Amino acid sequence: MTKIAVFVSGGGTNLQALIDASEAGKIPHGEIALVLSSSPTAYALERARKHGIPSVVVSRKEHPEDFEAMIESALSENGIDMIVLAGFMSILSAEFTEKYENRIINVHPSLIPSFCGKGFYGLRVHEAALEYGVKVTGATVHFVNSIPDGGRIILQRAVYIQEGDTPEVLQRRVMEEAEWKILPEACEKVAFELSQHKEA
Ligand code: GAR
Repeated sequence: MTKIAVFVSGGGTNLQALIDASEAGKIPHGEIALVLSSSPTAYALERARKHGIPSVVVSRKEHPEDFEAMIESALSENGIDMIVLAGFMSILSAEFTEKYENRIINVHPSLIPSFCGKGFYGLRVHEAALEYGVKVTGATVHFVNSIPDGGRIILQRAVYIQEGDTPEVLQRRVMEEAEWKILPEACEKVAFELSQHKEA
């Protein structure tokens, strides 16, 4: 069984999708063992609490020097094998991502390589897609390396833009039709691969 930490910073609807999939038996090779939040006020923490999942807050603002060292301690204390970034709004260093190579995945709300990289997060991604005038957008789950949104793609799903979409309406559609579906699926895929290594 692959022990998973889900990193969050906000509302945590993607965390909820992972919890729901897990409770429905759709992530049989992984266990959500920890929720790590970069913010003490993230609603995602409440979601973890409701489902009895241990959580920890590590704030970069409060610990600018030892932010990643604190994350690493939390991971080793909980025996974590794999990290899922689910709306985690902090960029991890190359040292960190190299240490966890092929063990960190991220969900991004566009079809990479469009509207991604530094500065493209949350609602801004959808604002940029609407501003550009693309007719199709979507979501991507990818491995995390030292290049923001630059790691190998695991799954993608397309979503159509509709006449009159606002960034908020589009964000919701991308979540419902793409993110909440492909994130649990990709999570199981990677958890399965890592569980094979663990047993070997
Ligand atoms: C999601 O749309 C996620 O794809 C995005 O932030 C939102 C978090 O929502 N992540 C990024 O933009 C990362 N570059 P949630 O807290 O409800 O899951």
